[in-house]
Amino acid sequence: MTDTLTFTDGRTGTTFDAPIEDGTVRATALRQARASDDDFGLMTYDPAFMNTASVRSAITFIDGDKGILRYRGYPIEQLAERSTYLETAHLLIFGELPTQEELAHWAHDVTHHTFLHENVKRLMEGFRYDAHPMGMLISVVAALSTFYPEASKVDDREVRMRQVVRLIAKVPTIAAWSFRHNQGLPYVYPENELGFTANFLSMIFRMAEPRYCVEPALERALEVLFILHADHEQNCSANVMRSIGSSKADPYVSLAGAAAALYGPLHGGANEAVLRMLAEIGDVRRVPEFISSVKAGHGRLMGFGHRVYKNYDPRARIIKQTADEVFEITGRNPLLDIALELEKIALEDDYFVSRRLYPNVDFYSGLIYQALGLPTAMFPVMFAIPRTAGWLAQWLEGVQDPEQKIARPRQIYMGSDERDFVAIEDRGRAATVA
Ligand SMILES: CC(C)(COP(=O)(O)OP(=O)(O)OC[C@H]1O[C@@H](n2cnc3c(N)ncnc32)[C@H](O)[C@@H]1OP(=O)(O)O)[C@@H](O)C(=O)NCCC(=O)NCCS
Repeated sequence: MTDTLTFTDGRTGTTFDAPIEDGTVRATALRQARASDDDFGLMTYDPAFMNTASVRSAITFIDGDKGILRYRGYPIEQLAERSTYLETAHLLIFGELPTQEELAHWAHDVTHHTFLHENVKRLMEGFRYDAHPMGMLISVVAALSTFYPEASKVDDREVRMRQVVRLIAKVPTIAAWSFRHNQGLPYVYPENELGFTANFLSMIFRMAEPRYCVEPALERALEVLFILHADHEQNCSANVMRSIGSSKADPYVSLAGAAAALYGPLHGGANEAVLRMLAEIGDVRRVPEFISSVKAGHGRLMGFGHRVYKNYDPRARIIKQTADEVFEITGRNPLLDIALELEKIALEDDYFVSRRLYPNVDFYSGLIYQALGLPTAMFPVMFAIPRTAGWLAQWLEGVQDPEQKIARPRQIYMGSDERDFVAIEDRGRAATVA
């Protein structure tokens, strides 16, 4: 027995060995198999990265079959119960939970970078009154690249870490100001005396009072939501962050790209779709009818199913409990009964059970955001705030990994063979390619 994959190329009858390391074979090992001397060599074809590891990472571990999620080895359940967002961000970025002294230093650094340049404020004021807050967030984060040109020195550790602190600190301010912009309310400046989540809530909700009074249970609920959303290994947006970063672009434009990926309804936009679905169902009595229509292929049960989790998403279990705590203060969200009934029926129904479709993180998070008084357009923004730490941890790991190069997939060319240019008056057909 050896840690080797032996394969025979049926075209030539030649047998090859490829070393197996950490349960993987290198795709480049297949290049040994060539049908002829001028053949490039065998490639793998893996649209959507269904079976390809693109990095070695020490940040987040997921076992989708068992429903396990850990940051740097710590189970998500323990972090959600005992940690804070800033502590978790430190864990993701530096690899360890901070000591008292490190945490004080880290919190001080982040707190003192929450302000935005006044020109950023003016830039934000230039958006239309109804601009989607996610579009604003993406654009303004990219614009920060022009305020901190030193950020382009991505090989300099000190410079890198300065931008990491700036981004973790400033994204909540941009997020809150995009909300205030939509509401037609004055932007609220950060309060250095408040903690990370309390400061965010103050920038969102403060009106005429000299100091915003934060309800501790809501602050803790948001803290838990932020911890749960902080990272999720090589998901679509993390992959974008690493991919843009692989060209040595600065972290602001890289993070803007990652946030753009998060915006899509199959990724961070799903919680918004869940709320739309619940509102459309409208009544608990209509749940069986809705389930039947999903089973008949008319749409999906949003907030159910996951590419990686084929078991209950551990984050969904924690969020459900957090939702109960929030509703005790804000009052019960009337859509909750519909969600609970949907979950109950789906978890017993063979269609969902046989496909291993369970509630994911988005099934309940939207209900909490709505109970906090946030409009659905803010939901992906609420996801982007904590995910900033995860994106940056992934980016830092990527730019320091000696094995990484510029991300550049191969393709299988399916287009036309070489042909001669045709003068416009001789072209018979309209172009068919979009
Ligand atoms: C998350 C998601 C995109 C993962 O998709 P995927 O890994 O590519 O899985 P597939 O689309 O191949 O689905 C596998 C099977 O389950 C079914 N399925 C997957 N999610 C479903 C859902 N939410 N409702 C109903 N059926 C679903 C598919 O129709 C397919 O059935 P089939 O084998 O009969 O064709 C998908 O489950 C989904 O669209 N969920 C709803 C959106 C959502 O909540 N996204 C947030 C993710 S955190």
